[in-house]
Order: sequence, then structure tokens, then C-alpha cells
Amino acid sequence: MNEKIFKALNEQIKHEFYSSYLYLSISSYFENIPLEGFSKWFRKQANEEHEHAMKLYQYILDRNLHVNLQAIDAPQVKFKSPEEAFKLALEHEKKVTHWIHQIYELALKEKDHATAVFLQWFITEQVEEEKNATDNYDQIKFVGDDRAALYVLDQELGKKA
Ligand SMILES: [Fe+2]
Ligand SMILES: [Fe+2]
Repeated sequence: MNEKIFKALNEQIKHEFYSSYLYLSISSYFENIPLEGFSKWFRKQANEEHEHAMKLYQYILDRNLHVNLQAIDAPQVKFKSPEEAFKLALEHEKKVTHWIHQIYELALKEKDHATAVFLQWFITEQVEEEKNATDNYDQIKFVGDDRAALYVLDQELGKKA
């Protein structure tokens, strides 16, 4: 595997673990409010991000390379409102999509077909991730200061988690 692609994949492992950290942090915020459906949703997202990191980890091993795990930044721990937390999640997913696309373009440029095919799963996954994050953020904005509606939304998202 080309050195640039190897570096980018290791970097993406870090990003996926960071996503897991961020969503755990948001989950903990919601647990404390308490909005337990949202908390459950973000805990599930955190587990999924861990799985994404492990998919990349396994791919590097499958290519007979050693994984270079990197330091993970601390996520934001305080949130002013549910809206801020959902907005942050959406912005983060957009960044992840951008990073995945960058690695994919690099794989095409370097003619690493195996990596390009491997990354297609992540490209499809990001469509789903951005859709969910956008829907959640739109709904939270729609609910506004209506506490009864917020409670219903919390219950509904909890059922999906
Ligand atoms: Fe992810
Ligand atoms: Fe994600």
C-alpha cells in the first residue's frame, strides 16, 4: 500500500474513534438532562463509530500492515441546548464525509483499486449518517421551546436506537 494512503487510513481510524468519543459525550449530556431517548440514540451512534474504526483497522491488517493508532482529541463536554448538540453532530458528520471522499479520491489517483472498493461502504454509510443527522437537527429546530413536543421526539428517537 502506498504510504500516503496508509497515513490517510490511519488518520481516518482516529476520526472514527473521535466520532465515538463525541457521541458518547453528547449521550452523557442527554442522560443528565434527562432526555433518555436522545441519550440512547447517541450511545448507539458511538458504538457504530467504534465499529467503523474497527473496519478500517481490520482492513489495514488484511493488507498485511501494522496499524498506527494515534492520540484521540477530547470532545466537547458542555452543551447549551439539545439543538447545539444535534447541530454539532450534523457538522461533524459532514466533516467525516469530506475526509472519506478525500481518501477515496487519493485511492483513485494512486490506482489503489482495493482501497477504493473498500471505501465505497463508507461513502454509502455517510449518506445515511448525514440524512439521519439532518432529520434530527431539523426536528429539534422545529420543536423549539415546546417541552411536550421535545419529550415526544425524545421518545421517538429512543425507539430507533
Ligand atoms: Fe463513522
Ligand atoms: Fe458517523
